Amino acid sequence: MNITFIGAGYVGLVSGTMFAHLGHKVTCLDTDERKIVELQNGKLPIYEPELELYVKQSMASGNLTFTTDYGSAIKDSQIIFIAVGTPPLDSGGADLHYVFEAVDSILKVTGPDDDKLIVIKSTVPPGTCLKVAEYIRSKGKKFKIASNPEFLREGSAVWDFLNPDRIVIGTTNISSNQLLEEIYAPLIKQGLQLFSTDITTSELIKYSSNSFLATKIAFINEMADLCEQIGANIEDLALGVGLDKRIGKEFLKAGPGFGGSCFPKDILALSHITKQNNCAFHILNATIKANQERPMKMAGKVSAAIGGIQGKKIAVLGLSFKAGTDDVRSSPAIEICQILQQQGAEICAFDPVAMDNARVILPDISYAPSILEASKDARAIIILTEWPEFTQLPFAELALIMKSRIILDFRNILNEELAVNAGFEYYSIGKKHE
Ligand code: UGA
Repeated sequence: MNITFIGAGYVGLVSGTMFAHLGHKVTCLDTDERKIVELQNGKLPIYEPELELYVKQSMASGNLTFTTDYGSAIKDSQIIFIAVGTPPLDSGGADLHYVFEAVDSILKVTGPDDDKLIVIKSTVPPGTCLKVAEYIRSKGKKFKIASNPEFLREGSAVWDFLNPDRIVIGTTNISSNQLLEEIYAPLIKQGLQLFSTDITTSELIKYSSNSFLATKIAFINEMADLCEQIGANIEDLALGVGLDKRIGKEFLKAGPGFGGSCFPKDILALSHITKQNNCAFHILNATIKANQERPMKMAGKVSAAIGGIQGKKIAVLGLSFKAGTDDVRSSPAIEICQILQQQGAEICAFDPVAMDNARVILPDISYAPSILEASKDARAIIILTEWPEFTQLPFAELALIMKSRIILDFRNILNEELAVNAGFEYYSIGKKHE
């Protein structure tokens, strides 16, 4: 089938590439000319494991092309996915102007008899697809509209695309359903569950999923604080609770708080939507507050461990909001660095892939090319992202080059015994410090 993706950002590029891999003819369009030229030359604008390989394979097979031109991009396509950004407004609501800009551009290059399916993949407030449908009707066009939210995680997006727990679609008629079933057919054949509902519920499922997962994390993070106070162990607690299938083990890893371009934005948007509709959402508002307070709490732990921050050199390992990505948007690591810096710390950071992105928002800290160089003369090491390369630190070498042997492992990835045997004072999350 011929498919167009409007927006070659994270969602559009991964989904478009993977649909091409499934055998469809995909055109990815973006208005950013530089990005498109780079993609045409095989250069990816994001770091995502395995994606480059799939992009190159699909380009070589002729299934994947990139363009900035709306006319050629949608001329032959049966389905147009809108996968543009929906950044947060000051109110907490979602800014939909990129969505409507995309719709306008589609309308401009199509005739009154064109009958295509427009699928909104961007995360949009419930009611948006129906508003878009109304807008299209008001312009005398007859495109059909559907919702198909994405559930890809950065860092494992390719795997998530090929092995989803479910695909959610929201449609208003059977023919849209059939078209969407057709493009997902290769995955449906492998047993994928396609869940079909009305369009507004589909939009709301996306916000609910992200909000529920964020709430699980906020819950376990506050349980971790309690564990530290009373001498319980958060990892055993998470497992003991998570083994109950009704709760589940996933997303119960305590840490420095959740970040990224989705959870923080989507929980604020859902809170805004409930307020607009005169509904209370006490739990979600508590999740927002708990997560906003987390970086300050983490900075407090650093200060307590090293006896004040002012003038001390601190080595920060990890800047991306989680491992497997170079994305630093709403990264707790960045927020913690900012707080420590305000409190007078001299920070030297190392991240295997995210330093270029971090430099843009944190220009005034130093960056080092390795763990050892970041740690030279440091009073403490703080681990803020769970990169595999941080799980086995060279303790013996670190002991020789650091000013004091203190490690704060805010992702609980180190072997405590090894750290302690090497003479380090070891602090983790959710376990009493001995
Ligand atoms: C999230 C959702 O998991 C995806 O299903 C969704 O498609 C995506 O948002 C989106 O809306 O586009 P993502 O933001 O890539 O995906 O990252 P997650 O793996 O969900 O992690 C989010 C944050 O939670 C990270 O900062 C991570 O470190 C933190 N986290 C996650 C924890 O602190 N503990 C956990 O147990 C899990």
